[in-house]
Amino acid sequence: MKNHIIINKKIKSFNDEISVSGDKSISIRCVLLASQSIGISKIHNLLESEDVINSLKSIKKLGIKYKKKRDYHLIKGFGLNGFKTNKKINLNAGNSGTFARLILGLLVNSRNEIKIVGDKSLSSRDFSRVTEPLKKFGAILSSNKNSLPVKIIGTKFLRPINYEEKLGSAQCKSAVILAAIKTPGTTKIKAKKSRDHTELLLKSLGFPIKVKKNKNFDFIEINGQNDFRGFNYNIPGDISSSAFFLVLTLLSKESKLKIMNVNVNKSRTGIIKILNMMNANILLKNKKVYKGETVADIYVKSKKNLKSIKCPKNLNSSAIDEFLLIFLVAAKSNGISSFKDLSELNKKESPRLDIAISFLKKIGIKVKRNKDDIKIYGNSKLELNGKFIVENFKKDHRVFMMSCVAALTLGGEWKINDKDSINSSFPKFLKLIKKLGAKIN
Ligand code: S3P
Repeated sequence: MKNHIIINKKIKSFNDEISVSGDKSISIRCVLLASQSIGISKIHNLLESEDVINSLKSIKKLGIKYKKKRDYHLIKGFGLNGFKTNKKINLNAGNSGTFARLILGLLVNSRNEIKIVGDKSLSSRDFSRVTEPLKKFGAILSSNKNSLPVKIIGTKFLRPINYEEKLGSAQCKSAVILAAIKTPGTTKIKAKKSRDHTELLLKSLGFPIKVKKNKNFDFIEINGQNDFRGFNYNIPGDISSSAFFLVLTLLSKESKLKIMNVNVNKSRTGIIKILNMMNANILLKNKKVYKGETVADIYVKSKKNLKSIKCPKNLNSSAIDEFLLIFLVAAKSNGISSFKDLSELNKKESPRLDIAISFLKKIGIKVKRNKDDIKIYGNSKLELNGKFIVENFKKDHRVFMMSCVAALTLGGEWKINDKDSINSSFPKFLKLIKKLGAKIN
């Protein structure tokens, strides 16, 4: 079956309202923490994408029961020692770095060997960033040259650790936090800024976790081995999925969009701050706090005179999954934009910094790179005609969706490969974009 799409018409102006799917980071954390609770958790608006389905299938292999009801999922946990790990088990994380890394934290007390495997893209990513700190708890971990498959055998004799997280990776920080909830005593973490959904969810469950924040670091203390009960959670929309629609609207002509009920946790809203610094006028309305997470409706309008940005480094982590889109906006802005210290971008589902640079060059934009810093020479008059093919050799969902936004706003005839990649994070993407009037074959 064909797995590409053709776009050869720009999207016409629209004025609409949409809801995007549930947040992926929070969905995976809800599945994992429900699996450690005592009793039944009821999760509304769980993202139904491959990354989350692989998480559900994996906890089932570990003895946890779940059921899908009409608009919620029920997950029954048996507490912090409730995984059945008395025999060797293989878990398939598919494309999900978040699940693969976080589940390792929860396996530090496994009784037998558990092996984590994943797809080609995940199998080329670095796992030493989680295996090294988890070894310090006393678990035994081995990998294939720091990549998957990773094998873990836990221990009954877990010991708390002091850990400094230096990459600004929420996946590493969360793997350590999840190991700490199983470990007696106090684990202390000093972490470079990154999304804090794990901390907020644990706090909302009454788990003894303390967080102190300063400008650059979070200091976290977890007192382990405290049981918690099953919980209810209503997952808000994903800002990383909303981001495609923010940029689509911004770069389209005379359009307006409202995106309902999106998670706007500060550790995730770098995209909004950056686009507003570039002269967008994106507004958050109807703000509410839900279990420590901030949720709001997002309003965005098209904008003609976008300007370049000297992007402050401290916004990198809160926009980490959105840089492909930010670069696209920089390409269509007046002036030279500069971005610094983007090494983590090449550690994602595909080497996104390398891919973005070749994408921008392909659409006629001058880019200068100096190691992990780039300068993009914007052209606010950029209009494309001619043919473009996006190979997407690592089947990266965000490369596919960003390419759709480029095709629908810049013109040209596009063949974009690996449509199925959207299933990992945002299966509804094409349906929603067609609802706004996009012509896609
Ligand atoms: C995620 C953290 C980020 C992000 C990923 C989801 C999470 O990765 O890129 O899409 O849910 O914790 P890193 O922690 O590796 O930066």
